Amino acid sequence: MTTTSANEKPILVTGAAGDLGAIGRNVTEMLLAKGRKVRALVRREDERAEGLRRLGAEVVQGDLTDLQSMHRAIEGVSRIYFGMSVSPSYLEATVNTAAVARHHGVEAFVNMSQMTVTQMSISETTDSPQHKLHWLAEQALAWSGLPVVTVRPTVFLEGFFLRLAAAGVKQRDELAVPLGAGKTSPISAVDVARAVSVILDDPAPHIGKVYNLTGYESADLEHYARVFSEALGRKISYRNVPLDAWVEALRGLGVPDHLVSHLSVMSKLHAEGRYDRMTDDLIRLTGQAPTSVHDFVKLHAAEFTPREAAA
Ligand SMILES: NC(=O)c1ccc[n+]([C@@H]2O[C@H](COP(=O)([O-])OP(=O)(O)OC[C@H]3O[C@@H](n4cnc5c(N)ncnc54)[C@H](OP(=O)(O)O)[C@@H]3O)[C@@H](O)[C@H]2O)c1
Repeated sequence: MTTTSANEKPILVTGAAGDLGAIGRNVTEMLLAKGRKVRALVRREDERAEGLRRLGAEVVQGDLTDLQSMHRAIEGVSRIYFGMSVSPSYLEATVNTAAVARHHGVEAFVNMSQMTVTQMSISETTDSPQHKLHWLAEQALAWSGLPVVTVRPTVFLEGFFLRLAAAGVKQRDELAVPLGAGKTSPISAVDVARAVSVILDDPAPHIGKVYNLTGYESADLEHYARVFSEALGRKISYRNVPLDAWVEALRGLGVPDHLVSHLSVMSKLHAEGRYDRMTDDLIRLTGQAPTSVHDFVKLHAAEFTPREAAA
């Protein structure tokens, strides 16, 4: 009788369709490139699911809060990356996935969290509903006895510096975000995915560890406006947008309350200097330096450039 070794079993990647940071999609691609089998969990069958199949992943459709979905997703896998978009059901999804993982037995459970959790404790919290859910999820995973690896990145470049800033840069040459005068070290979600893929490729040395991931440098928004200017070849100015007006604009765009509350608290914590952080965990894990804001802006130049100028 032959048994399937852990290295031959597929690795489950959740949140694989990808939205803001698309860590799951990038992890899927990186693991496949390393020759690993990947089972990619998506919430719905769509073009993104087809794209994952074309890459070579086995695609499973399901909901992270649903028991039967998670049995289908976890049965027969050896290792799990757990991550999903910021949402009110984050804790339920984590505990549901962890309960099923305990039932089937896995050799690694890599949990995506946030770096602010490093500054939280039984008596210290923040007003963000998502920070609180991540802290509780980490507590539950610690009690679970699962072989957990915790990844806590700082703010992603793909959020405040791309999706939430691109229109202002493109239309008015301004980096218009409510981040005050505090320093921050934004990280590319692709770098975060690279760290996760390294851990999943050989998890044993990482079990029980917590990795705090930061970007290339910690600097204020005036500095980053100069970096945008150099990368785009035109003057970009920082405008510290009043938080209330920015929050109202997000609500007007239909952004869900949970996410608006989280982004609002992140902005306040930035202004208070709580995102002025640097670690070397990313380079120690991956051997590669973090992507600089300059390189990130160059990579996404089309999204920051008016169409007539790009033509
Ligand atoms: N953004 C930041 O600045 C930042 C910083 C540090 C840490 N993080 C953490 O990074 C994680 C987010 O990672 P990401 O940006 O890679 O995520 P993402 O791309 O925004 O979302 C990943 C996927 O999760 C799926 N999903 C949501 N709810 C689900 C459910 N109930 N069942 C199954 N799938 C579900 C979504 O599916 P659909 O697309 O079909 O809806 C989405 O494609 C979170 O833990 C967040 O706290 C983010």
